Amino acid sequence: MTLAIIGGSGLAALKGLEINRQQMQPTPYGEPSGPLTFGFLNNKEVVFLPRHGNPHVIPPHKINYRANIWALKKNGVDRIIGVNAVGGITGEMYPGRIVIPDQIIDYTWGRRHSYYEEDISEVTHINFTRPYSDTIRSKLIDTAGTIDLDIAGEGTYGATQGPRLETAAEIRRMERDGCDLVGMTGMPETALARELDLAYASISVVANRAAGKSDEEITLDMIEKNLSTGIRDVRKLLEASIPVILSD
Ligand code: HPA
Repeated sequence: MTLAIIGGSGLAALKGLEINRQQMQPTPYGEPSGPLTFGFLNNKEVVFLPRHGNPHVIPPHKINYRANIWALKKNGVDRIIGVNAVGGITGEMYPGRIVIPDQIIDYTWGRRHSYYEEDISEVTHINFTRPYSDTIRSKLIDTAGTIDLDIAGEGTYGATQGPRLETAAEIRRMERDGCDLVGMTGMPETALARELDLAYASISVVANRAAGKSDEEITLDMIEKNLSTGIRDVRKLLEASIPVILSD
């Protein structure tokens, strides 16, 4: 069993990872975001892949999600933690906070959403009622408790197309829909992992209050500043939880 970490904005490299080797993995779907990096974090073997490339150059709607997930599966990965930068919509989702979402709503369009599109022998519908792995989620939540990290243990992630940020009205609509968080990379990554039978959970980091939710204008500077605080906590959580996540 092997754990992969897919890094998002603010996590193009995984500090503390003792790198063993890097490997470019060709796939039937084209090229992944970069080479897979194999190494050890807290003495456990993990595979790291920066979703936007390193340096950060691939925008959310151009990421080859199918190639990324397929490449990980091909290399023996059976569980994935995706790290996602998000905007906070509802009250408790304040900048710098870590959230382990339990639900997702897909507002993206025009992305390659499925492996079951071409050359198929039968139509397949995966079960996606609970989109994230509850096993990995509870391990993350329990570990956060043991290291005194204040996190939100549930929340609904709304995945938007980007790369622009949302309008205030779009955020109001998403809040009416039940979204607590807004981000651009949660889908189709989460569904593709389920299609390939990989256990997947997200560590979402709130970078800003979503559009219209604060008097402050959202700037890239603000996003980067909050992300760097949040990402420090993400690293702590990853290091502490990896042995637990790999324990069955
Ligand atoms: N909207 C969408 N994606 C994001 C945001 C946001 O406000 N912040 C960080 N990623």
